[in-house]
Amino acid sequence: MLNALRGARRIAVLTGAGISAESGIPTFRDAQTGLWAKYRPEELATPEAFERNPRLVWEWYEWRRALVCGAHPNPGHVALARMQDCVAEFTLATQNVDGLHARAGSRSVVELHGNILRSKCFAEGTLFESWPPSESVPPRCPDCGAWLRPDVVWFGEMLPQGALESAAGAADRCDVYFSIGTSALVQPAAQLPIAALDAGATVIEINRDPTPLTSLASFSLRGAAGDILPRLLEAAWPAPG
Ligand code: OAD
Repeated sequence: MLNALRGARRIAVLTGAGISAESGIPTFRDAQTGLWAKYRPEELATPEAFERNPRLVWEWYEWRRALVCGAHPNPGHVALARMQDCVAEFTLATQNVDGLHARAGSRSVVELHGNILRSKCFAEGTLFESWPPSESVPPRCPDCGAWLRPDVVWFGEMLPQGALESAAGAADRCDVYFSIGTSALVQPAAQLPIAALDAGATVIEINRDPTPLTSLASFSLRGAAGDILPRLLEAAWPAPG
């Protein structure tokens, strides 16, 4: 595995909620603490749910936004930010909406499921990095007056086209592919490591628990991403001195 890493010219990565778990952000499918163990996605994470009860949905995302704003990147995020300077081409695609990879220093992160810190007009899709405080919940679009919604991908929605294309292209041409902290259940992201395998890459999974990818991956490392990634980085590309 270390030889594959040291010899790699192109590395591509897919991360999921598990990499941010050590920053205190809940995952989705952990039996006790996962968001989907406590809340029903069809009431909170679909366009229909938003149309039925925009206030409930907006406030749930406000709660998650506050969690994200209070969180900090952990050693797993930092190790990936360092890895980008160890190879000629590095593509980091994430299903996370928390922006922690960028805050750790990763450049050009491919956000497959959007970003919770942005909002967009429910009617016209215009994106907003910030919006004025408002008595209305959800706030209204400054351009057309429709509701603002979080800029995240909901169930039944397409992924941002350019994001999926970048991630799929990187999976097809990489030498090593990492699947980190994702249950590998949600499509189309779950297809990316399989595409990398089919294209001949060495696929390394890092996860606390087994997933459908585990038996297919070239290597599967069981444990916390924030523990394994820094050690792997140091073993493959030791810091000088
Ligand atoms: P999940 O909650 O489905 O899976 C998180 C994975 O991380 C599980 O396999 C855990 O065992 C593992 N894990 C937990 N803590 C870990 C740690 N410290 N180190 C390594 N692994 C750890 O989250 P995702 O796979 O990201 O979509 O879920 C995919 C999508 O489903 C999300 O983006 C979200 C959700 O519905 C949308 O909201 C569109």
